[in-house]
Amino acid sequence: MEKIVSLCKRRGFVFPGSEIYGGITGFWDYGPLGVELKNNIKREWWKSMVYNRDDVVGLDAAIVMNPVVWEASGHTKAFTDPLVECKKCHHRFRADQVSDKCPDCKGELTDPKTFNLLTEVYLGVTEPKQKAYLRGEITQGVFVNFKNVVDSTRIEIPFGIAQIGKAFRNEITPGNFTFRSREFEQMELEFFIEPKDLEGEKWFEYWKKQRLAWYTSLGIKKENLRFREHAPDERAHYARKAEDIEYNSPFGWKEFEGIHHRGDWDLSRHKLTHNGYTPWVIETSGGVDRATLFLLLDAYFEDEKRVILKLHPKLAPYKVAVFPLVANKEDIVKKARDIYLGLKLKLNTVWDDRGNIGKRYYAQDEIGTPWCVTIDYEPDSVTVRDRDTTKQERVNISRLDSYFSDRLK
Ligand code: GAP
Repeated sequence: MEKIVSLCKRRGFVFPGSEIYGGITGFWDYGPLGVELKNNIKREWWKSMVYNRDDVVGLDAAIVMNPVVWEASGHTKAFTDPLVECKKCHHRFRADQVSDKCPDCKGELTDPKTFNLLTEVYLGVTEPKQKAYLRGEITQGVFVNFKNVVDSTRIEIPFGIAQIGKAFRNEITPGNFTFRSREFEQMELEFFIEPKDLEGEKWFEYWKKQRLAWYTSLGIKKENLRFREHAPDERAHYARKAEDIEYNSPFGWKEFEGIHHRGDWDLSRHKLTHNGYTPWVIETSGGVDRATLFLLLDAYFEDEKRVILKLHPKLAPYKVAVFPLVANKEDIVKKARDIYLGLKLKLNTVWDDRGNIGKRYYAQDEIGTPWCVTIDYEPDSVTVRDRDTTKQERVNISRLDSYFSDRLK
């Protein structure tokens, strides 16, 4: 884990939030490579959940909503974690994450009390200002727009609404790098079905399969993923059934994404019906930051000589790196520059002419660039070096575009 945290900082994937002022617990900033990786994950998710389907449409709702939404959805009452405080050092912990003694000073802990995770904001110019909340889950924006979406499209049940966006939780114990943050992104599908037990079971199983297949299609090793069903006493207030896809992380098996049978909880709370009945909802809810972290952990390899991020080429921040074999031969540099600028129009491509070729390869391996193109003395061809095999192949310059687009299919 420390190796990933340090790689992320050193190479510009993830930085501590507000670092020059000492940071702020639970907030992270994504650097030049991190934003590319995160955007690539979101793009692949959107492709698989929206563009590749006929039965799902997208939405982008506001982060701040009328606070009545959170009363109706049950979050102001039930969106809580159990909090305990050490009677000696007064440090606070989530009761379900500690034993009966303070982990810091072994002091006695108080009885648990419920702690609401919603983050308050105050709006307006007159006093008292209006209290609202930063959304604790992106989900409610979908439910309050259910009617708008049905009325403005020709979509019919069963259908889904997909959304990606920021959520905020005043977590008691943020930690494990970006795993548990106070500001994070979710990618969610709310899939509306007829309120029938068999439909519920069918779609719950369907979405479990789809979501697992999506993670493995992006290269996460099967043996590092598993399902875990929530016991009734750990389910969120809205869920009649919940299963997590968990990842085998260096800090144990941890929740990656939740598949939830929300029944009619939300639509009935918002008093919304459709064709005379209240549809049920099967939800898939994944974290973009967790996907970024777990994909990095899963892709990290070391051998005697190099560190490699074996990221799926579709996710890699840069697809191609272009090097002139030598930096002091004008014709070679010019030719390499032309190839670089041509590739850059289609793929995220990076230029490097520092140090020797071996060092340039290693620097690209460490950030997951799948292919390095070296321009040498051959008039019509270049070498393309593969990150994972380190094999080099000669490719005609006129074929370079199709060479990469074939591999990215
Ligand atoms: N709408 C349902 C919902 O929000 P959840 O299980 O509370 O369900 C869904 O959250 C996903 O959001 C989690 O599986 C995780 O990937 C991500 N997530 C939740 N809390 C998070 C946090 N504090 N930091 C980073 N990601 C988080």
